[in-house]
Amino acid sequence: MTAERFASRARSGRPAADLAAAPQRTTERLLHDVLVEQRGLGFAIQLAGLREAAAARDGAGAPVAEALAEAVAALETHETAALVRACTMQLAVDDVEDELERLEQRRAAERDGALAPESLEHAARLVAAHGTPPQLDVRVVLTAHPTDIARRSVLAKHRTIASLLERLGDPRLGAQERRRLEEDMREALAIWWTTNEVRALQPRVADEVRRLLSFFRTVLFDAGAELARDVRRTLGGSALEPPLRFGSWAGGDMDGNPNVTPATIRATLRAHRILVLTLLLERVRALRAAYSQADATLLVTEGLRASLQRDERELPRTAASLATDYPHEVREPLRRKLAFVAARLHVELTAARGGSVAGGPHGYASADALCADLQHVRESVGSAAVADGRIERLLWQARIFGFHLATLELRDNATELQAACRALVPGYAAARTEAERAALLSAACRDGTPHAPQDGPLPRAAAAFEVAAEAVAAYGPRALDTFIVSGAEHPSDLLCALWLARWAGLCRDGAPHLELVPLFESHAALARAPETMAALYDDPAYATHLRARARRQEVMLGYSDAAKEMGYLAGQWALYRAQEALAEQAALRGVELRLFHGRGGSVSRGGGPAYRSILAQPPGTVGGRIKVTEQGEVIRAKFFDRRLAQEALEQTVAAVLHATVVPGAAPPRAWREELARAAAAAQERYAALVWRDPDFAGVLEQCTPIDVLGRLNIGSRPVARGGPRTLARLRAIPWVFAWAQTRIGLPAWYGAGDALASGDLALQREMHAGWPFFAALVASLEAALDAADLAIGERYVALAAEQAPAQRLWDAIRAEHARCVERVLAISGHARLAEGALLDAVASPGAAAAADAREARRRPWLDALSLMQLELLRRHRAGDPGALEPLLATIAGIATGLRTTG
Ligand code: PGA
Repeated sequence: MTAERFASRARSGRPAADLAAAPQRTTERLLHDVLVEQRGLGFAIQLAGLREAAAARDGAGAPVAEALAEAVAALETHETAALVRACTMQLAVDDVEDELERLEQRRAAERDGALAPESLEHAARLVAAHGTPPQLDVRVVLTAHPTDIARRSVLAKHRTIASLLERLGDPRLGAQERRRLEEDMREALAIWWTTNEVRALQPRVADEVRRLLSFFRTVLFDAGAELARDVRRTLGGSALEPPLRFGSWAGGDMDGNPNVTPATIRATLRAHRILVLTLLLERVRALRAAYSQADATLLVTEGLRASLQRDERELPRTAASLATDYPHEVREPLRRKLAFVAARLHVELTAARGGSVAGGPHGYASADALCADLQHVRESVGSAAVADGRIERLLWQARIFGFHLATLELRDNATELQAACRALVPGYAAARTEAERAALLSAACRDGTPHAPQDGPLPRAAAAFEVAAEAVAAYGPRALDTFIVSGAEHPSDLLCALWLARWAGLCRDGAPHLELVPLFESHAALARAPETMAALYDDPAYATHLRARARRQEVMLGYSDAAKEMGYLAGQWALYRAQEALAEQAALRGVELRLFHGRGGSVSRGGGPAYRSILAQPPGTVGGRIKVTEQGEVIRAKFFDRRLAQEALEQTVAAVLHATVVPGAAPPRAWREELARAAAAAQERYAALVWRDPDFAGVLEQCTPIDVLGRLNIGSRPVARGGPRTLARLRAIPWVFAWAQTRIGLPAWYGAGDALASGDLALQREMHAGWPFFAALVASLEAALDAADLAIGERYVALAAEQAPAQRLWDAIRAEHARCVERVLAISGHARLAEGALLDAVASPGAAAAADAREARRRPWLDALSLMQLELLRRHRAGDPGALEPLLATIAGIATGLRTTG
């Protein structure tokens, strides 16, 4: 459609049957009604025209963006704003429908008796064939990383729409019920339409904490326990240790975030405790209501009888009110017991609200005491069906979430820890070399510096260790057990943490309550990681710490910063080698190593399907243990709904079992050499563009929306670490985010094309077939290349003030992209990009057609948003004051369409 026709239809507002025809999907149809109600039929026609222009293809099937660009240029900024909102909502509701369809497909496959390849059931068969089940220790750590564009209010709308859609899918519905549900859906969509998509204010740390807590409250508290039950049921055994636990960084991650303080740490710990006690209390009360079994039908154990006697003694008021209000419960001992459990939890909850821990005779000294009480109940129910039912779920909730909900982890940068030690350790400021620093800290740790009151304010890092000590003393080690040192490069970085932990009293009486975790992420740090750890293992002070922690050591790997510095391919290889070397070293020294993978959702930040990523770990590095971060949009995608969460957690646990019992063989030397060669070549090409080309920073600045990302208000921390934004200081998230918005996605593939193309294809095909790590790497590259759209990307290049240098870089980028596409397809043997992902996801004959239909449905909305973004970027940079708000909305829209910020 030409710009003229588009504009004139918009102006006339005449109904045009073809354009305003009722759309297909339920949500589309109802959204259309809402748009007509809110903005009139003319707007609906204008929107349909925009879509039609965006969907136009030339004879070869390629998009013709010219008409769309002209149409968009002809719009007033306020008109664009409404269209941006509408396109975004179309994509968001489409997503909700897609998720439900996916769940439906899985259910259908289950009904047909298919064994899902990433299920616990499948893993259990592998375990049975290869040995005994390993002790599982899976940790899922939710971070507050600013990578989700959706506000909590908008997320709530997604949930409402999803649940209404599910109900609408019930074929037994009567006409009345259907009408009511559709009315509810229109109401939710109308409220959503008038809700700001972009936050008006920067979120505070407390908002980030609240956001994560909402996932625990609505989904994870139940999904985590359900998964633990499934693991027990599938693998058998009677282990009481949960197979998985949760951690959180919201409120405790100080790295580059001045807003996280000792006060936020304290407030977060309290919020965790209040929420988990509230949830436990709710569940106990519900169970009490359900447990009406009469004593004659039960097998009341001695343990339960004794515990009831103790309750009556210690909680006389509860006993008295039970006697008055519920006298018949004398014959219902389980219900009676649960009344006392609830009373004790209530005491703890009241204390937590007041900022303290009750413990003592009226409450619970710890979550273990609650578990013991629940166990007495479980042993007395007299029925396997009942014992394996709600009481078991509740027990898992108590075991997994305890009285802490999720373990809060603290993180700060090595430079901050060094600065704190310079301020506090006598003589440290004068140490000049790493050897001097390490020796001085080690000796100071062994001497035990007294915790003397300081003049003036404490460095924040030191104050954080003090709060950690306070928290461990008050809430126990599960509440807070880890301190991560980001940017760790040298042994002294960890020795600073050790010294501060001791100084704060965390290691008193040989009880080292804090796991000190180096986060290795730069090229140099990863290459040196085994050397750094060797020096620590040999250091007498660190060795004492390690001994006291039963020789368990955790090491974190930073995928995003590695890829930002080296490019994707080289970053992946550096991480792989570091893991191998660290694992081998730990095995030789009798250290139990747990690797903590700091990955984002997108390929550029190490993301990819969890199962595949875990199987791609170097052979023998998993051993039943893994720790992974989940952040932003991934948290939303995985934990939005209980069934989705169960599926995601199941896949992670199943993959850990699989990688443990079938660790695979070490890759042959020729494969390693080929990858080492390709990684070096890729890194060189990447660095030549990103770090050495004098025109690159200008292109990033002018040809991407990097200049406005900070205005999006999606996180409490600044977009750059430690100072004004430069390419080096820019954090990995906005770096990737900016390129994702341009649809170029450069960080995920740049450098890999030429590097792979200059190698031996036959050898690479062999590696692809036999090495899960390489296969995962190629699959990730395919997915990233598939998501890229250079025709749109080229339009961003046209934004450069000086075209000659920008075009020079663009030619290199385009050529590299083409080489990369050609080579990865040659390696994988796929006819089209991401064909493998398609086959993995839904191995059904209609899968490709369904994916094409999805793409055809979503693509025009996304392309329209990109072209509106380009236009608004121009207007904003030319000084149009009204352009910023809709521009930010296009960023939210494109992130919704791509399902990632970056
Ligand atoms: P970080 O995380 O900047 O907090 O280290 C990077 C990322 O997850 O991409």
